[in-house]
Amino acid sequence: MGSVSPAVFNTRTFHWTDSKSTTITRPEDPYQYLQGFGNDHQSEFIPGALPIGQNSPQLCPYGLYAEQITGTSFAASRSHSMRNFLYRRRPACVHSSYGKTEDNPTLEASFLNPSTGLHTVPSQLSWSPFKIPTEADGVVDFTTGIHTLGGSGQPNLHEGIAYHIFAINSSMPNKAFVNMDGDFLIVAQEGHLDITTEFGRIYLQPSEICVIQQGLRFQVDIIEEHSPSGARGYIVETWGTKWELPELGPLGGYGLANQRDFLFPTADIDTSSSLSPWQIVSKQGGTYYKILQSHTPFDVVAWHGNYIPYKYDLSKFVYHNTVSVDHTDPCINTVLTAKSRDLQAPLCDFLIFGPHWDVAQNTFRPPYFHRNCASEFLARIYAPEAAAGGRSEVFAPGGASYEAGFTPHGNADQRTIGAMHIDLKPMRIGENQLTFMLESCRSLLFTNWALKDCGVLVAEDISESVWDTVPDRFGQNEEALQFLKAMGRA
Ligand SMILES: [Fe+2]
Repeated sequence: MGSVSPAVFNTRTFHWTDSKSTTITRPEDPYQYLQGFGNDHQSEFIPGALPIGQNSPQLCPYGLYAEQITGTSFAASRSHSMRNFLYRRRPACVHSSYGKTEDNPTLEASFLNPSTGLHTVPSQLSWSPFKIPTEADGVVDFTTGIHTLGGSGQPNLHEGIAYHIFAINSSMPNKAFVNMDGDFLIVAQEGHLDITTEFGRIYLQPSEICVIQQGLRFQVDIIEEHSPSGARGYIVETWGTKWELPELGPLGGYGLANQRDFLFPTADIDTSSSLSPWQIVSKQGGTYYKILQSHTPFDVVAWHGNYIPYKYDLSKFVYHNTVSVDHTDPCINTVLTAKSRDLQAPLCDFLIFGPHWDVAQNTFRPPYFHRNCASEFLARIYAPEAAAGGRSEVFAPGGASYEAGFTPHGNADQRTIGAMHIDLKPMRIGENQLTFMLESCRSLLFTNWALKDCGVLVAEDISESVWDTVPDRFGQNEEALQFLKAMGRA
């Protein structure tokens, strides 16, 4: 048996398996994880801390308190029920009364009234990389560094979605955050994050995504060694729905994002700051409240359940596509999906476009032109220098682009005839780059921050400048012109 090379990961990693890694995480990640999307997990930091055969003993092991968190209604169907039992040093209710704290003025949570600083956008939008705050901007942590681009719906209706970016230059010492409104899907793009949750710790770096569900407390710290310029990423906030794996249908039992590649933290009680003052910032309806307490909120010694933050490395995605002709619809790249009330129209599909093989025959390989009912938000996590530019600066990592539903567009390559004359051999595409897309049945309302104050909107309508070079090939086709002439239509 040959020796196994050490794991090497970088933006040139074509697929996780190229690293020949014998561990389930990248080398920088110091933490242990449990595996399996949708599983009922359990973990204990001290052996014997988890009661056996029951949830709520008269006295829990080691004097711990039992506390339940429900993520769905008590009587939700078994397949949808999400709940935990936590065994902790003090129950979470041991804190001061809720008080008001300074709001984040660039955070929006109500998208019901376009007259209140929210804007419909019928066209294409594009943003250069969002700015990461420097020292001159003062301390910007995860609670103040969230900026809302747009959304649809409202959390207290339990219905809707918001797209945010985060750009931060500071950790959150003795400060935790809890989103009472909905779930956060966090996409790391720049810098490495150390996320402490009540269930343990999650290390997050570019190429990884993480979901932190409604009502769970967490803290986001920056790993300075890997974040010399601070940290940046994207957040998809969903209200009234949970992320699921897409159906596999005819693919069978495996493929796309496999269940066992989703990683869940292991219990890890915070002892370093257990008796110092803590502040918990709570977001409800987009408004910030704070509670104070004399001890860490991360004092859970053991837990069990299925309402647990998790992460996934996008380089483990198993791509599928045509092996004969035609370009498969992009839903084939869905990592996670969040249902809306209309079961035929997802509130959001989270898709990725990373390195994979392209083998179609007799086919125009780039995506066809289209006018889809879904809105599309794209952002690049990383890309080689040469790939930056293209049809717009959307291709610069850290920026974004948006197309409203039914806004006509296609692939920039179609402006030229190049893609029609390439040699159709199997080829590796998307090398050294990773892009994600959010497809939603909602047309977003955009904030003033997205359309002005962020300072990086490329243009409010890029449609004309992008597509006006598309040639009229039919008008130059001799055979077609002869037909038209014979029909008296030339
Ligand atoms: Fe599209």
